[in-house]
Amino acid sequence: GKGNHRHFMLKEIFEQPAVIGDTLHSYLTPATGEIVLPPMPFDVAALPKITIIACGTSFYAAMVAKYWFEQVARVSVEVDVASEFRYREAPMPEGGLGIFISQSGETADTLAALHYCREQKQHIVAIVNVPESSIARESDVVLQTLAGPEIGVASTKAFTCQLATLACMVISFARARGAIDEAEEDRLAFALAHVPAMAAQVLNHDEAIRDLAHAIFEKRDVLYLGRGTGYPLALEGALKLKEISYIHAEGYASGEMKHGPIALIDEEVPVIVIAPTDRWFDKTVSNMREVMARGGKVIFLSDVTGVDAVGEDAFAAIELPSVDPFVAPLLYAIPVQLLAYHVAVLKGTDVDQPRNLAKSVTVE
Ligand code: F6R
Repeated sequence: GKGNHRHFMLKEIFEQPAVIGDTLHSYLTPATGEIVLPPMPFDVAALPKITIIACGTSFYAAMVAKYWFEQVARVSVEVDVASEFRYREAPMPEGGLGIFISQSGETADTLAALHYCREQKQHIVAIVNVPESSIARESDVVLQTLAGPEIGVASTKAFTCQLATLACMVISFARARGAIDEAEEDRLAFALAHVPAMAAQVLNHDEAIRDLAHAIFEKRDVLYLGRGTGYPLALEGALKLKEISYIHAEGYASGEMKHGPIALIDEEVPVIVIAPTDRWFDKTVSNMREVMARGGKVIFLSDVTGVDAVGEDAFAAIELPSVDPFVAPLLYAIPVQLLAYHVAVLKGTDVDQPRNLAKSVTVE
């Protein structure tokens, strides 16, 4: 049941500290910071390339993982949505790795893309929430997310558990490839082990975010901006809002603003800026200032350093815990989920069963 919560979606958002913890514990020993994945039937150090394929929210987890694998494990990564990838006839280097991310494990396009990668002699790893699913059955290695059943059509806890699994994979691959030393491995694993506690802190902003929803629910368009791993989070925020509140929303890489979308900005357009203090922070802030100069109402998501520096200039700011930038995507997912949820409740939509959507897309 929904417990004390009004909707499954809200219950599932609030389950995240626990289920991220469950997922992490299947790969990470917090006491030692040691990360152990199931054995990979290939030489991780020799992988020529990784291709990550998924749909929807699972695809945004793939995008975050691309930044991680490239930066931390120094391996070349391609990502695509399954419905495009499966028909592209992409040439693939023999012995590469295909990673397939799917909550349900039954998404038809993702399964078809897996078949294509198999023909192209790729190794296949699945990250799924349902271990007896088709995608799991057809993979060489299955990394299960322990999100538990996800009932709300809008994916929330499955996404952060996918990120937790991918983060463990990245650290393990980085070590195997000699891209990081033991001290760096410990540092990243330590940051990851603290995510459940940090996620619980983020949930304390629920009421503040509910209040902010009043500034959004009557708007026609909403923009989400971010850079680096904040970019897929911007896409995810926009997807959550549009699917359950039916407000038009778009996510953009902040640096793309001046190449077109800034033309949309006026006093009527709320702009959600995802800005942890990471290597991209200053650039994101300068894009945010361009938006504010045109009257855009900025809702600024950052940590204490970011909020102290520029929060006052924004229409509103939410101050999240200060964490290693590596794990920031797991935390910044939560406020965008809550914002979409509260806007949808104000609009009176069917939050758990939004129109036109199915939980598992088993047709092309
Ligand atoms: C969005 C959402 C969908 C799914 C997509 C993939 O909230 O739930 O975009 O993420 O349909 O589904 P899975 O992960 O089951 O392959």
